[in-house]
Amino acid sequence: MSLPPGFLDEIRNRVPISRVIGRKVTWDLRKSNQARGDWWAPCPFHQEKSASFHCDDQKGFYYCFGCHAKGDVVSFLREHDGLDFMDAVKLLAAEAGLSMPEPDPRARERTDRRKTLLDVTEAACRWFRLQLQTAAAAEARDYLARRGLDNAAIERFEIGFAPDQRTALTDALRDKGFTEDQIVEAGISARPDGGGAVYDRFRGRIIFPIRDGQGRCIGFGGRAMDPNARAKYLNSPETPLFDKGRNLYNLGPARSAVAKGQRLIVAEGYMDVIALSRAGFQGAVAPLGTAITEEQLRLMWRVSPEPVIALDGDAAGQRAAQRLIDLALPLTGPGQALRFVMLPAGQDPDDLIKAAGPGAMGALLDQARPLVDLLWSRETEGQVFDSPERKAALDRRLAEAIARIPDEMTRRHYQREIRDKRWALFGGGRPSGSGSSGFGRGAAGRSPARRQGASMAPRATSPFVPVAVPERGTDLLEGAALLICALRPACIPAVEARLERLTPRDPDRAALLHDLLTQGSTPQGARCLDRLRRDSHLGLTPTIIEQQQDEAASAILANLLDRIEADRAAQSELARAEFEIQGEADEGLTWRISQIARARHRAERPEIAAASDLNEDRDALAAQLSEWLSGQIWRKPPRR
Ligand code: UTP
Ligand code: MN
Repeated sequence: MSLPPGFLDEIRNRVPISRVIGRKVTWDLRKSNQARGDWWAPCPFHQEKSASFHCDDQKGFYYCFGCHAKGDVVSFLREHDGLDFMDAVKLLAAEAGLSMPEPDPRARERTDRRKTLLDVTEAACRWFRLQLQTAAAAEARDYLARRGLDNAAIERFEIGFAPDQRTALTDALRDKGFTEDQIVEAGISARPDGGGAVYDRFRGRIIFPIRDGQGRCIGFGGRAMDPNARAKYLNSPETPLFDKGRNLYNLGPARSAVAKGQRLIVAEGYMDVIALSRAGFQGAVAPLGTAITEEQLRLMWRVSPEPVIALDGDAAGQRAAQRLIDLALPLTGPGQALRFVMLPAGQDPDDLIKAAGPGAMGALLDQARPLVDLLWSRETEGQVFDSPERKAALDRRLAEAIARIPDEMTRRHYQREIRDKRWALFGGGRPSGSGSSGFGRGAAGRSPARRQGASMAPRATSPFVPVAVPERGTDLLEGAALLICALRPACIPAVEARLERLTPRDPDRAALLHDLLTQGSTPQGARCLDRLRRDSHLGLTPTIIEQQQDEAASAILANLLDRIEADRAAQSELARAEFEIQGEADEGLTWRISQIARARHRAERPEIAAASDLNEDRDALAAQLSEWLSGQIWRKPPRR
């Protein structure tokens, strides 16, 4: 059904988003400003104790500063409560006192047609199940018994049987009043290419009904009992109901199980899902006879932030894992992670549970490895890195893979973890200072005014951490921001959310930040404050700060935060730019570098001029940037 223009806006105007979300979260009333419709709570989309989830009644939006979940009231009901779009709209319309518009005729026709097709599949499902009880199904029942499926499992998974006859089901459905076209469109019967009488698609097979997330029967999988059958499994074709890439076997029951605390497990086959469920792992799903798609990943993430992929311990399973790494990297981030377990050679979850029991399966699941481990294994396993060229080739492959991760924070953690693994593999301590990256030279060679010193470890020496200048500037700006907050606590409330997003690398600074936000005091925080007070490079000496009016101090603080945020954005752009310089440069790069420069420029307002060292630093940054630009080092390297 399509909605008339303005209908959703009317809903949004009538139902404050905080009212809907407020039923699922506990507002942090200290941090919230109820009068202004400005609400904060611990995020309902990820585990946390602090309140990083923000919801704004004026704008009608929510955003989590931790996991970046965002959207409006409709998307909240979809993402959080798992409602589909129309159900969410209906619920909200009722709450707003609006009646749902009459569906337009074409949409109604589509809905009616789908409904009829669902009637066909449900009728077929019942028929298959009945056939399993007939004399003709003796062999099928034996087969199921041999595979260890008892009646309870047969009932729960609605397993059926398609007898080996040409038109038994087609005839039965026709008798119920369905037309041949409907039966064919539902994917139950097939029409021969050259025309002629339609025939049953599934013959002589065990039938697994496939239901969508709302429990509607959308298709079937049929397993041959004869080991010599041409296809072991035959699935429903794509139909208006059945989209293989957008559904998962057992999704509905798995979602309920995950809601009760089970993990979401993704196996390869129907039998694996059934075996897992029976072994107590009810949060099991499987793709439908094709490789996992992006839509299926998104579907999984709506159920769980960290599905565990359990792949068969054979070559096909390995290949599936490789493909999945490439599919998942450009999508991964907080709340969208994956873990992997590899089954022992030649086994799938069904085999393993049968051979070693649920305990063995559970133990394996507990050891599921994160995506970053799989990436590393894929690029390194079975290889020898005994030359600079081989090491460089590895570095490049990993940098390219990491550059595909869209979330900056996640990308940085990948860089760190890969760097650690790399040190462990190559031994001999850290790679040399200049690194192998195009940006290394500039950053290591020209150092702006010294400060901080020892506490800032030479982190940026690995080729995986883009040696980008903004980091240096950021440390300085961050120190200044912390000092202002400590000396002028009145400035904190207005910028609390922005402060929470600071991620000091120095643990003492992190402690100080925490102290400031919680009005607490830790020895590390105090130590850090003491250091900042005495740091002459900060350019903002305590006396200068203490002489300012509150407004002036606030303005300087806001400005520092602007710069830090701009630097952070630049940093992430530079990481991408670096990747492109190493690999495939595109025309977008020059544009992006100019955007970085503009972002910087925007952040530089006169108030900041009070701090001369900051300006010096800024000049160094600008010089750096123009050096890159004039050096044209982003030009595409010649291909060999
Ligand atoms: P497997 O070959 O691993 O089968 O295929 P399985 O799940 O272990 O099944 P059993 O234990 O031999 O009965 C995994 C999945 O791939 C799809 C099916 O969805 C199957 O469950 N598949 C496999 C097909 O669609 N067609 C095939 O011919 C084979
Ligand atoms: Mn199997």
